[in-house]
Amino acid sequence: MSEAEGDRIAELAKRRGFFFQTAGVYGGVGGFYTYGPHGASLKDNLEAAWRELFVTREGHMEIDAPTVMPESVFAASGHLETFDDMILECPDCGASHRADHLVEDNTDIEEAESLPPAEIATTIAEHDIACPTCGVALAGEPVEEFNLMFETNIGPGTASPGYLRPETAQGIFVDFPQLSQYARNQLPFGVAQIGRAYRNEISPRKGLVRVREFSQAELEQFFDPETDEPPLTRVADVSLPLYSATQQAAEDGGLQELTVGEAVDRGVIESDWLAFYLGLSLDWYASVGVDMDRFRYRQHRPGELSHYAADCWDAETEIGGDWVEVTGFAYRGSYDLDKHADYSGESFSVFEQYDEPVTVERPTVDPDMSELGPRFGGVATDIADALETRAERDPDAFDGETVTVEVAGDRYTVPVEQTGFAVETVTESGEHVTPHVVEPSFGIGRLVYTALVHAHREDEVDGETRQYLALPPSVAPTTVGVFPLMDRDGLDEYAQRVAGELRATGLSVTYDDAGAIGRRYRRQDEVGTPFCVTVDYDSLEADTVTIRERDTTAQRRVPVDDLGETVLALRDGDCRFDEL
Ligand code: ATP
Ligand code: GLY
Repeated sequence: MSEAEGDRIAELAKRRGFFFQTAGVYGGVGGFYTYGPHGASLKDNLEAAWRELFVTREGHMEIDAPTVMPESVFAASGHLETFDDMILECPDCGASHRADHLVEDNTDIEEAESLPPAEIATTIAEHDIACPTCGVALAGEPVEEFNLMFETNIGPGTASPGYLRPETAQGIFVDFPQLSQYARNQLPFGVAQIGRAYRNEISPRKGLVRVREFSQAELEQFFDPETDEPPLTRVADVSLPLYSATQQAAEDGGLQELTVGEAVDRGVIESDWLAFYLGLSLDWYASVGVDMDRFRYRQHRPGELSHYAADCWDAETEIGGDWVEVTGFAYRGSYDLDKHADYSGESFSVFEQYDEPVTVERPTVDPDMSELGPRFGGVATDIADALETRAERDPDAFDGETVTVEVAGDRYTVPVEQTGFAVETVTESGEHVTPHVVEPSFGIGRLVYTALVHAHREDEVDGETRQYLALPPSVAPTTVGVFPLMDRDGLDEYAQRVAGELRATGLSVTYDDAGAIGRRYRRQDEVGTPFCVTVDYDSLEADTVTIRERDTTAQRRVPVDDLGETVLALRDGDCRFDEL
């Protein structure tokens, strides 16, 4: 992002209470921000808007899992082994840098995360990249993997290591067997969660964009990949700005504007579930203040994919010339459920009842352990298990005299007559299915940041430069400011009464009686309050007030009796200001 844009938002954010660096009295700590009153309110409104769509309207369950989880969860999920970024430490000043970001910032290479560490090290040397902190040349310095999880101990001592969750998602996957019951084991179903996630980022930067503690809003959509389809027709005509991996690799590749239906038909988006969520989310971004001329969906290139993802599209917003990922839409397949099933030994599948029972031929084995035991010793049981799996997957292997199976890398050959191989005819009422998962993962902080940057405007009012935030009324921290023209003659009591009545309707209201009326408007413009109500002497006579719109500064006189309803309708988009 350009320095100027970032500095302007940081200054406004701190001065007006959107966000500021935590523990400033101790010098602050990188990557931790406190949301001030306006920021907390904006963030709440974004989360409420997300919940409204993904939980209320789409009808998914919402849960609230702990932020600390035992090591076993992250050993199974793969985060312990692979949730790394590339680190390079300056030999002179000791500053730590994201090695791939050094490359992106100093070369034309985009998405350097997808390159292996050795190539990053070579690129740093080839381009004479220097330490951004002290200027010393970094050629020849090692590039290493750094795990991003914060480790802690659960209880006293170090016997039970735990980790702060790096994504809320694992809280859903690890308790899938329980959650599946709440969904009456009926696929498809979705589980949503809004909460904090933690990553020990190597170099936090760009305000709320890269921090060490942040809020995610995630949905895990579980479905049977063979039979369940999303309601694609609902979004088939939504037009998506797509930047596919193919387009990124092409010399002259650029954005493609395709409807959801076209993108699926042409195979640009392979999974129709992913396509459904890209389509469903598009309007939502606009509704929370993203400038859709500065928005795109970009597909991950193969080397860029997370360890759990088979495909991924990021929603990205443009901030000061850089593209920032605000949401990852990942196709996680059955990766997480398979892993937790393997590690825990529990079932992470759903039993799907057939409409009618079906009769099938089922290959089975009944190995003769009195032969296998003496011959194979301690590995005989594993061989029996391997025979069972082979029979299920490849019954033809039992057609000959002998059959060979592999256990822990070694091959064992067994006479077929000792395997008890048979094909039984059985009637089945259903089958066990391990669901696949598509996951929209929204970063709330990055969206708050985008909304602030994209809403920021400057114009001239009454010969003076005015700064204002053109936030959508539905997410603005405060919906309406109420001012008495003068702090006397009964105007103040009247205005206090109006503010109280508006609050009683559930609106977010601020009351301000300090200074010239123009100054009060400016104060509200700067924090994005879309409407201001002024009580003047005519109000006392006629029970009417003026209502002013932030962006146009236009004013209308309205009866005070209808005021609550009027402001609610304006906030919710049920009426336009120029219709008043
Ligand atoms: P990046 O490549 O920018 O580090 P990521 O690919 O690691 O992002 P995901 O793992 O897909 O991000 O996380 C899902 C969402 O969580 C992101 O789209 C983003 O909005 C948010 N997020 C991830 N890391 C951070 C962070 N350090 N600070 C703020 N938000 C974050
Ligand atoms: N749940 C996606 C991620 O945070 O990696």
